Amino acid sequence: MAQKTNAALPPGTKLPVHVGVIMDGNGRWAKKRGLPRKIGHREGAQTFRTITRHAKNLGVKFFTVYAFSTENWKRPADEVEAIMDLFEKYLDEVRDFIEENIRICFIGDRSMLREGLQKKMRSVEEDSRDFSAMTLLIAINYGGRDEIAHAAKAIAQKAISGEINADEITVDTVEKYLYTSDLDGDTAPPVDLIIRPSGEQRLSNFMIWQAAYAEFYYTNILWPDFRPEDLEKAIIAYSDRNRRFGGV
Ligand code: FPP
Repeated sequence: MAQKTNAALPPGTKLPVHVGVIMDGNGRWAKKRGLPRKIGHREGAQTFRTITRHAKNLGVKFFTVYAFSTENWKRPADEVEAIMDLFEKYLDEVRDFIEENIRICFIGDRSMLREGLQKKMRSVEEDSRDFSAMTLLIAINYGGRDEIAHAAKAIAQKAISGEINADEITVDTVEKYLYTSDLDGDTAPPVDLIIRPSGEQRLSNFMIWQAAYAEFYYTNILWPDFRPEDLEKAIIAYSDRNRRFGGV
C-alpha cells in the first residue's frame, strides 16, 4: 500500500501505511556505557517518543512498537519492574500525544499486567479514540503466537456455540479475531515495514500473522541512538523494494 509522500522525504517516496518497530538494543546501549540496563530502557523510551512523533509527521497512519513480549517476563524481576514502571510513567506522558491527534491502542494479553497499569491503558485508549492523524499501537505482553492461539480459542468457542460453521473458517475469519482487529471498532491493516535496530535479524514473535508480506529493515544502530533520519532511511529503503505479494 502506498500513500501521498511527505515533503521531508524525496519526491515519489512510497510511504508505508503501517510501520512496526522492534525497539531493540537498550540493554547493550547501557552496557557500552557501564550503566544499568534500566537506564537503557529509559533512553529507549525517549527515542520512542521522538520517533513516534516523527512517524506521524511523515504521514505514517499506523505505527506499532514492540514494548514488552510474552517472553520478556523471563528477564530479572528488577528489570521487568523497571520496564513496567516506565510504562506507567509514560502512560501519563503519552497523553501529550493526544494533543497531536494520535490515537493510542494496546495489543497483547493485558490480564497479566498490574491493575493500575491496565486502568491507565483503558483510560488512554478511551481519551484518544476519536483522534485520527495516526494510530499508535503499543504491544505489551504481546506475542504473535499467543495472538493466534487467542484467536483460535475464540473461533473454537463460536464454532461450539454454533455461531460459526467450522467449514467456513477462512483467513479473513482468523484475521477478525486478532488483537489488531480489536481496536475499539477499528482494524489495523497488515504491517508494511518492520524496522529492527541493534543488528538482530529476526522477527522474535512480533506480528507474525500481520507481517506475512512485510518488508524488513535492519540496522546496527541501537534503539536509544535511533534518530528521525534513521526512520526516513528505512522508509526510503522500503520505497525502493518491489513488493509482489506472491504475484510476478
Ligand atoms: C529491548 O531491548 C527492549 C525492551 C524489551 C523494552 C522496550 C521498552 C521501552 C523502550 C520502554 C518504553 C516503551 C514505551 C512504549 C513507553 P533489550 O533490553 O533486549 O536490549 P539488548 O538486546 O541490548 O539487551
